[in-house]
Amino acid sequence: MCGIVGYIGEEQAYPILIKGLHRLEYRGYDSAGVSLINAKGELLVYKAKGKVSALEASVEGKDVSGTIGIAHTRWATHGEPNETNAHPHYSQSKNLTLVHNGIIENYKALRAELEKNNMTFCSETDTEVLVQLVEYMMNSHHCDLYTAVQLALKNVVGAYAIAILEKSHPDQLVCARKGSPLIIGVGKSATGRKEFFLGSDATPIIEHTKDVIYLNDEEIAIMDRTGRLEITNLANVKQTPQLVKLQMNLDELEKGGYAHFMLKEIWEQPNALRTCIRGRLNMADKDVLLSGIIDHKDKFINCKRIIICACGTSWHSALIGKYFIEEACQIPVEVEYASEFRYRNPVIHSDDVVIAVSQSGETADTLAAIQLAKEKGAFLYGICNVIGSSIARATHSGTYLHVGPEIGVASTKAFTGQVITLALLGLAIAKEKKTLSDDMFHMLVEELQMIPDKMQWTLEHNKGIDEYAKTFTYCKNFLYLGRGYNYPVAMEGALKLKEISYIHAEGYPAAEMKHGPIALVDEEMPVVVIAPKRGNYDKVVSNIQEIKSRKGKIISVVTEGDTVVKGMSDYYFTIPDTRDCYVPLLAVIPLQLLSYYVAIAKGCNVDQPRNLAKSVTVE
Ligand code: G6P
Repeated sequence: MCGIVGYIGEEQAYPILIKGLHRLEYRGYDSAGVSLINAKGELLVYKAKGKVSALEASVEGKDVSGTIGIAHTRWATHGEPNETNAHPHYSQSKNLTLVHNGIIENYKALRAELEKNNMTFCSETDTEVLVQLVEYMMNSHHCDLYTAVQLALKNVVGAYAIAILEKSHPDQLVCARKGSPLIIGVGKSATGRKEFFLGSDATPIIEHTKDVIYLNDEEIAIMDRTGRLEITNLANVKQTPQLVKLQMNLDELEKGGYAHFMLKEIWEQPNALRTCIRGRLNMADKDVLLSGIIDHKDKFINCKRIIICACGTSWHSALIGKYFIEEACQIPVEVEYASEFRYRNPVIHSDDVVIAVSQSGETADTLAAIQLAKEKGAFLYGICNVIGSSIARATHSGTYLHVGPEIGVASTKAFTGQVITLALLGLAIAKEKKTLSDDMFHMLVEELQMIPDKMQWTLEHNKGIDEYAKTFTYCKNFLYLGRGYNYPVAMEGALKLKEISYIHAEGYPAAEMKHGPIALVDEEMPVVVIAPKRGNYDKVVSNIQEIKSRKGKIISVVTEGDTVVKGMSDYYFTIPDTRDCYVPLLAVIPLQLLSYYVAIAKGCNVDQPRNLAKSVTVE
């Protein structure tokens, strides 16, 4: 949700900020804006509704000079997406500008207070309240910006990452965070002087420096041109900045010849998963080594229950994880929507293990869910992709996906990365608990090792879908069906289609179809059935019959060599045979391709679907 980028140093800030905004655009693209202080000491603001390219067009011919600046790409929460509500926001005297990511929950009360003190507002946003509050504190306490930010934030309820410029102090940049991520990059300019970068994540920073500091909650930082960086918390206690090295490469943030990030990320899956399992599968001994559980074996061996909290696509992978862990480890697993879990006073025991699954590691609801579980004494385990993310830092232990940055808003490689990581976790626990026979354990390890190659095969053998997808542009509804491990895959396939092509789709357990969705089936209705020659194959075949007799169109995912389901299908995708528990890793690939090509045929913006954002840091 929303992207922040900032710079102070010797270079021209505008090109750095615009490039950074392009990198952050996947977080929100309702409007964009930039603020700079030029050599004359003027505090400039430019804003535009829509994408960053609209902002670039709008500043043509205008003064965008200056070596200090902040910029923002917005995912609207308070106030519709228009130029007035776009960030940065000026304070009343126009001495300050501020960009913000997050939600100020008590902004109405704060605004009313400020209005009583003769402050006037231009926008409907909670962000403008923040900048006005800071200015009010500066004036009423006769203090500097840094102190005013501390005072202001003590009155704020909600989440924020903010960056502020002050016209009368053009040599300093102030920022703060609580609940929304903010990273400071520490670089060196051509003359060897220190320069600072700001980003809501590492993507706008990586091409300038790999040395970063992750700001913690309730910390405020001030950076100036002499290279000074000072961090304190809201209680004014000085903090020692922890410099860490980013583990990310610039080419991971480029499309690399693909038309869209989503397509690149779909095709990246075999290699991404090879990286994910590297060092974690020991094929000489047919063993699993997961460093995240080594020091915490007892927690997993003795726990009575595992609860997995997640949102969106991560919730689907969590469900597959549940099936795997219950089967392999004989531990009951509950999968919770983090947003529900956090608000319903759930029963959590100190011998529960609570796992958070999150690509970004920043999803506000998932973060709040584990904070609740922590208060109740549970052991917390994080499965995240983004290194150093809030969830990764808030958990006791965990495993990174290592599938590389995911930029496409619709999650693809993170989903398969999560599924395979949960399988690794299940195997590692099963080994400790001895809940699988040696033969079964070794066989599952061997088969897991082969999954990346089988994914590659799946990608290579399902290429014709781009043409066939065109026939679905007229569709209003799709139904996705699967049983067992493939029921979550059906939901994930439906979610992918909804997200990027705006066609309504539902994922259902195949047998449940009879209890409702079958009423929707007619000759207009495509039904995607995941029907591998495994598990409940015969039952799924019967479900297909039921749809066919109602003239529904069948698109199936079948095992290589299957002729029965192929013969019943209007279109089919083929996947290689694998164990039931690993079928989702292969079956989801054609569904990702299907949604991608239907969206392309409909002319939709695949990487930036309307109203969605990659990282949901607001509840
Ligand atoms: C958003 C994204 C989804 C993602 C969900 C959970 O809705 O668009 O792709 O699955 O958030 O995000 P997380 O980062 O916690 O996995």
